[in-house]
Amino acid sequence: MNTTADAHIPSEQSDQIAAREQVKQYLDAALEPRVHSSSKSTEQYREDIKALLKKHDAALIAHYYTSPEIQSLAEETGGCVADSLEMARFGANHSARTLIVAGVKFMGETAKILSPEKRVLMPTLEATCSLDIGCPVDTFSAFCDANPDRTVVVYANTSAAVKARADWVVTSSIAVDVVDHLDKQGEKILWAPDKHLGNYVAEKTGADVLLWDGACIVHEEFKVRGILDIKQQYPEAAILVHPESPKPVVEIADAVGSTSQLISAAKNLPHPTCIVATDQGIFYKMQQACPDKKLIIAPTAGSGATCRSCANCPWMGMNELDNLSQIFESHNLDHNEIHIDEAIRQKALIPLTRMLNFKA
Ligand code: 13P
Ligand code: SF4
Repeated sequence: MNTTADAHIPSEQSDQIAAREQVKQYLDAALEPRVHSSSKSTEQYREDIKALLKKHDAALIAHYYTSPEIQSLAEETGGCVADSLEMARFGANHSARTLIVAGVKFMGETAKILSPEKRVLMPTLEATCSLDIGCPVDTFSAFCDANPDRTVVVYANTSAAVKARADWVVTSSIAVDVVDHLDKQGEKILWAPDKHLGNYVAEKTGADVLLWDGACIVHEEFKVRGILDIKQQYPEAAILVHPESPKPVVEIADAVGSTSQLISAAKNLPHPTCIVATDQGIFYKMQQACPDKKLIIAPTAGSGATCRSCANCPWMGMNELDNLSQIFESHNLDHNEIHIDEAIRQKALIPLTRMLNFKA
């Protein structure tokens, strides 16, 4: 086995490389400038959306990477702003008939898998994720079939169909704990799709992990050199890193964790300054958690390089006040409502429920 920790990526995975090529095409579409027809002010949008949520008995569930306008609307209307694990939990436990998920498609699908009786809407179903696109179900199933001795653990950033093929679903906040638990039972792991998170988990647990070759286009851009340059200017700063980042970046971190874990670290570490390697959207809640601290975004590829994400997930950025305000218009529902084949939903529910029960 080819191993640094025990993690390894099979050398001949041309289908996986083809899947990564697909990511580039989706990225081009996401980066197209969007045209807004309305001349409404932000305040008008906010009031309209608040009224609509009330009228339709809907709860707004937003990820930390969405815009401050959307996060504050979720806060002010009794919804939630959270990481992907807590978004799933909040939606499943909430009594609203409709869940509005402001995030990316896998988050909406997770809500629907857990709450099939609820209507799940998203500002746009085109908001996807490079990890999801880079892990098509047919290629992934063939990878699983070729490795039948391994327990299949998939990251939440995958389609419902990929989750349906898994033994476990995990988010970044519990990935290490779940894999550690499986390793202690002597299980070998097949991990997909994020190779950086998978590698991090393998190193933390010592488990035998076979990796799918996927990556997050946002976190992959963070570079050690740029971060250390900033650290020279702010020697008192802590470096906070999401584990979707490449290994050299993780290695210089003072804290590594999911979005909610990074917010806790910013609050609890003694450092007055934090250099943060994740999507900039997190600053809205992070600054609330530690108002007196200075927060600096970690640099990505740097000037002159081909940075296409610049610490802003282009798909999270597709959640806007404009499309959120139109979400209940009946002609829009086909573009906004999550539907999942019932047979797939029932299969995907099993590993998702395992995750929720594990943490509980
Ligand atoms: P969290 O589970 O940490 O919120 O991560 C989701 C994600 O997409 C990070 O890029
Ligand atoms: Fe996916 Fe990366 Fe965007 Fe998170 S930041 S949703 S992992 S593309």
